[in-house]
Amino acid sequence: MTANAAPIIELDHVSRVFEQRRKQVKAVDDVSLAVQEGEVVCLVGESGCGKTTTGKMIAGLIHPSGGEVRYAGKNIWAMGKDEFQRYRLAVQIIHQDPYASLNPAHTVYGIMSAPLLQHGIVANHKQARERVRDLLRTVDMTPPDDFLDKYPHQLSGGQRQRVSVARALTVSPKVIVADEAVSMVDVSIRVSLLNMLGRLKRDLGVTFIFITHDLAVAKHFAWEGRIAVMYLGRMIEIGRTPQIINHPQHPYTRALLSAIPEADPRITRTKERLQLRSLDIPSLLNLPSGCSFHPRCPLFEEGLCEVSVPPLADMGEGTRVACHVVARERAKEAA
Ligand SMILES: Nc1ncnc2c1ncn2[C@@H]1O[C@H](COP(=O)(O)OP(=O)(O)O)[C@@H](O)[C@H]1O
Ligand code: SF4
Ligand SMILES: [Mg+2]
Repeated sequence: MTANAAPIIELDHVSRVFEQRRKQVKAVDDVSLAVQEGEVVCLVGESGCGKTTTGKMIAGLIHPSGGEVRYAGKNIWAMGKDEFQRYRLAVQIIHQDPYASLNPAHTVYGIMSAPLLQHGIVANHKQARERVRDLLRTVDMTPPDDFLDKYPHQLSGGQRQRVSVARALTVSPKVIVADEAVSMVDVSIRVSLLNMLGRLKRDLGVTFIFITHDLAVAKHFAWEGRIAVMYLGRMIEIGRTPQIINHPQHPYTRALLSAIPEADPRITRTKERLQLRSLDIPSLLNLPSGCSFHPRCPLFEEGLCEVSVPPLADMGEGTRVACHVVARERAKEAA
């Protein structure tokens, strides 16, 4: 990769509107993000904040209502048929629920050989079987022959998720969007799945967009990458993971961090300081004015926070934060 290569994935002021109860809701609102090849970026936030919708737009599964999604510098929705097909193979998504995404009527071999044969990656079933064996080893399903002829219902949740990952790898993707990929498995299995994904990231150099509602998981998986925090469709803080975890700036990020149980003393201190004013997440159907976090925010200032939407502003050291009060304090420090 040359220094000025285009980001592999770029969201440029991307929005997505859905219709709910005859009203238009913005599931994703003006999100911009540039991901470099080999990077890992975690999208974090509570349920309903727009993570899956963002992931699906990155993978080209749904069309943005506004803005552009680019792959290697090209608007994916302006690509020709062949180019779009190549992009769709290069960006693979792993869904939260492997039960729903694996065909229950097919064996592991059937599930994994289909893309290999369909895209001409292998010439015949003999080669496909060899390749499927290799990929099962890659996701720590050994010996592979124990699994080749099993059906999804004969596997554990963790094994099903490994098959989902292995299937994504059949087409040698450049980017993997992992949407709550470890959320549905037991904690004990979660760690080994995360370790396996971490190894893929290192060994294959795959770019990861890792989606999770759990900041502790993001911290574990993306320590060398970045975390982007979303709230009600907007990105409210983004920065390098150690920076976000050790020096969170947005009151919402600080509140999320204080919910991590194995908090270090620094985080516990944050917890004491930052109590949310309300635990209720407002509905997208009825968004609060100005900063949509204002009804819950402990730092809320009347006449400021409910008046205008805070822009995502550069706070230095690669961090951007959308908060009027943080921006003002930063400006004071700089003055
Ligand atoms: N196909 C759809 N039709 C209508 N509303 C949708 C659709 N998909 C998602 N939404 C809404 O968009 C918002 C964001 O959803 P989602 O992206 O799934 O969030 P997350 O993954 O963070 O939980 C939610 O309010 C959800 O109900
Ligand atoms: S802009 Fe105001 S309400 Fe929003 S996060 Fe900052 S302090 Fe809280
Ligand atoms: Mg989701």
